[in-house]
Amino acid sequence: MPNKIRDISESWEDVDNDIFIEKNVSIPMKDSAYPIRCNIYRPLEAKKSDSPLPAIMTYGPYGKDIPYSKFNPSSFAEIHQSQRSRYSAWETPNPVFWCRHGYAVVRCDERGFGQSPGYLDSMSADTADLFCQAIEWVAQQPWSTDKVGLLGVSYFAGTQWRVAARAPRGLACIIPWEGMSDYYRDRCRHGGILSDHFIRLWWQRQVITNQYGLPGRAARQWGDDTIEGDLPEAERQKNRCDQTVDNVLHHFRDEPYYASRDFRVEDIHVPLLSVANLGGIGLHLRGNVLGYMFAESKFKYLRFIVGRHDLPFYYEAEVELQRSFLDAWLKNEDRAGWTEHGKVAPVSLVLRTGNVGYNDEETERSLVRREEMEWPIARTKYTRYYLTSDNRLQPERFECDSVRMTYPALGTVEAQHKLQFFTSPFETETEITGHIVAHLCVSVSSATETEVVPWDMDLFVTMRHLDATGAEILYTGTVGDPVPVVKGWLRCSLRKVQSDHSRHRHYLPYREYFSADEEPMVADAIYEVDVEVWPTSVVVTPGHRLIFEVSSGDTDGTGLFRHVDQTDRDPRRFAGLNHIHFGKDRDNYIQLPIIRN
Ligand SMILES: *[C@@H]1O[C@H](CO)[C@@H](O)[C@H](O)[C@H]1NC(C)=O
Repeated sequence: MPNKIRDISESWEDVDNDIFIEKNVSIPMKDSAYPIRCNIYRPLEAKKSDSPLPAIMTYGPYGKDIPYSKFNPSSFAEIHQSQRSRYSAWETPNPVFWCRHGYAVVRCDERGFGQSPGYLDSMSADTADLFCQAIEWVAQQPWSTDKVGLLGVSYFAGTQWRVAARAPRGLACIIPWEGMSDYYRDRCRHGGILSDHFIRLWWQRQVITNQYGLPGRAARQWGDDTIEGDLPEAERQKNRCDQTVDNVLHHFRDEPYYASRDFRVEDIHVPLLSVANLGGIGLHLRGNVLGYMFAESKFKYLRFIVGRHDLPFYYEAEVELQRSFLDAWLKNEDRAGWTEHGKVAPVSLVLRTGNVGYNDEETERSLVRREEMEWPIARTKYTRYYLTSDNRLQPERFECDSVRMTYPALGTVEAQHKLQFFTSPFETETEITGHIVAHLCVSVSSATETEVVPWDMDLFVTMRHLDATGAEILYTGTVGDPVPVVKGWLRCSLRKVQSDHSRHRHYLPYREYFSADEEPMVADAIYEVDVEVWPTSVVVTPGHRLIFEVSSGDTDGTGLFRHVDQTDRDPRRFAGLNHIHFGKDRDNYIQLPIIRN
């Protein structure tokens, strides 16, 4: 880097907000001349009386100095009043609120972003290691009680899973709020298929715009200009690893690129409260559920929510819940019983009953919660619903003479190619909560006579819910868009399941997605595959129906999480016809986790 590192930090008192602010603080890193820079917010009173404080930390790319009001003005206008201040930043805790409740708030710029110099390599092991060092540094500060908690949404939840697996000294608990825990399976490659659309939008709007050294940030009101000065584009390019490029180039989890982003959630032992959004069917759901299932924390809690990804984190009741959990683990003030076994139910479920509309905070509040002692729920009755060759979805097994149903490959949202299978109207109220797996007998063939080797087929599956009039019941997606009950994906060349793996379950097929697992398809050969559908919960009332949809690409309700990259879904491998086969020993079914009916 051409520009010499400077050490500047400033502090001041904000009497109106009762806080003491230190800005541009450099946290030294081992084996590196480059610090991680942060802002530290402390209650003025505690600063004056020198009383030690527990700290809440975040570490991420969106700019410690970019005000929420500039980052996303319309969202900022909608979040709860008590969570709005001039120091608020996107997806992170509001310092003014938390200082008032006796916490220090430490907001770090991740390496390569904002004021933290060095190589930008988001979601990598290296960056998690720097976050780990930052946590240990904070825990050792003279003003610190030695206890650090992590709290944040989305990106700031993803960083929590990764760093907690490194067990930093001083880390006392985490609240990963709607954030993936598995870079490959939750975020970049759904069932092996590249989820490129969101990653590209995200990268261009809010990642690359805050790279360390980027000129003009202050002028654009996107934080401050870089302390050491601007860097030319050639230099910045050398200084970054680009997710929009790397995810196209790399396909398998054993490639160094993905392997370097992998960690074991089993290595997490700190108390955790994982918050999963049932409408986050492209990003903010699976990782929270599986992270909860496989973390080895003695005290762990899973909470389901509904609604947009930006708002619920700041709802008054949810903030009180965060405070209750943090007070218990960081201040030994356990009002609810989080630190005792059997006091707080480990799982809190929100029951999606009836049609409350989507993107409506008011009506979503009317949904009832229920507590459970485990996930998945022990009393689940796994029940098969069979697909039939006349588009029904029924509990009775279906057999017929050999026949296949056909649809074109390579569907898109604009040109959808799909088959839909309908249940009869339900006679009793039926709750489906847990993990769904779809078992399908599939094949590919060419639409033309050209021979292409190797073949492949992408399966996109969707569960939809219809009311008594046949209208679809839609739920709130990540940005307030309408989404169906849930979705799942599988690239059939990666169909191999490691059924002897410790994480494998009959309701949750485990796949490594290693290069050696790839088995291309032979044209016209029939393959039996198990498609993992993301975890879900829905209550079907009498008269309502379910649809199970199989398609060759994204369909309605995909929102931002589209899979459209032309290199990843190369027509030379995928073009042609896709088939589902029925016959004497050809079962096609979905296995539903039924809680009551
Ligand atoms: C932090 O660094 C930025 C960039 O050099 C500078 O504009 C700002 O004045 C510094 N300090 C404070 C208190 O903002």
